[in-house]
Amino acid sequence: MSFFGNLFKSKEESVLGVDIGSSSLKVVQLRREHGQAVLETYGELALGPYAKREVGQATNLSPEQLTETLKDLLHEAKVTAVDCGVSIPFARSLLTLVDLPYRNDPKEQKTVVELEARKYIPVPMSEVQLDWFIVPDRDAIPGVPPKQKSKVEVLLIAVHSNELKLLQTVTAGAKLKTSFYEIEIFSTIRAVVDEPVKPVMVLDIGAGTTKTYIVERGVAVLSHAINAGSQDITRALAASGDLSIPRAEALKKEKGLSGKSSNSQELVFSRIFSEAHRVLTQYETAHNKTITSIVLTGGGGITKDLCTYAKKMFSINVRVADPFVKTEAPAFIRPVLQEIGPEFAVAVGLALRKLEEKS
Ligand SMILES: Nc1ncnc2c1ncn2[C@@H]1O[C@H](COP(=O)(O)OP(=O)(O)OP(=O)(O)O)[C@@H](O)[C@H]1O
Ligand SMILES: [Mg+2]
Repeated sequence: MSFFGNLFKSKEESVLGVDIGSSSLKVVQLRREHGQAVLETYGELALGPYAKREVGQATNLSPEQLTETLKDLLHEAKVTAVDCGVSIPFARSLLTLVDLPYRNDPKEQKTVVELEARKYIPVPMSEVQLDWFIVPDRDAIPGVPPKQKSKVEVLLIAVHSNELKLLQTVTAGAKLKTSFYEIEIFSTIRAVVDEPVKPVMVLDIGAGTTKTYIVERGVAVLSHAINAGSQDITRALAASGDLSIPRAEALKKEKGLSGKSSNSQELVFSRIFSEAHRVLTQYETAHNKTITSIVLTGGGGITKDLCTYAKKMFSINVRVADPFVKTEAPAFIRPVLQEIGPEFAVAVGLALRKLEEKS
């Protein structure tokens, strides 16, 4: 190591992103060095076997079971960091974009938003944690002063307090110090969306569901859950080939859409993509805008040849998420990181936010 390297090397603490998915737990540990996010370790643990189900299938574990699996994962991945950010599942949150009266005074604006929010949140306000922010004017033209406005677009974010309590119990039980909880969509956006202005569609293909959202100027302006995911691909393969679930899971991972078994897989993906396509068209029509690209993420996004198939279905640019490019890692593990990246997008996004907090 060079003299300068030694001299300026700052011993900053490491941080951790914890993604509690329905089929697996994922962690990513980063450290900042010379302004860069350095990847220290990462790991994943399938939850299926803890729930008497197969690897790759969605689960619904108790807080105690989740705590135990998280402890196992931290141990296996040799995690040393304790400061972390944790994801909130999209399914446990409510995101609504609404037009509300504009107030020049921030305090008045806050009162207006918090009063109006009640109309849009279908559960008592005492049961949820409410967050919100004002969406920057999406139709603003650079250099042209904005017109006097009477309305603002506000993104309301509500999370059930019980969900936060559960996450608190699990992370505290695993001896972690959590400084924030973030709906997984926001973590993914930080990790994989780089388009500053143009609307992009993200498809997070998880085990049980596919989350689809449209991101414009860094904000999730539309979100929707599709009730099918990569576990349905495994089930379809098992049914059509008379295979056990583990055999079908292995076949899916090995061949994806490139093998002989692609037909039964395409049937499931075409169902997911048709629904996503409807969301896309609905947005384009309502806002008179064109979505120029799609990002595939989540474990299902790793499926071999899925990108080519998605390009054919959507007729627009499609790419597979590569969140680890935002981190520094030895060149020899790059190919592995690129392959597994989609599964870790949420955890990388959380760790990046935690690093930002520290700097
Ligand atoms: N190489 C691969 N090819 C195809 N599918 C894969 C591959 N690797 C993982 N998967 C599938 O991805 C799914 C898991 O994805 P992911 O880890 O994103 O889900 P999750 O975060 O647990 O679920 P959710 O986000 O819905 O809560 C599993 O069904 C798994 O079989
Ligand atoms: Mg997930």
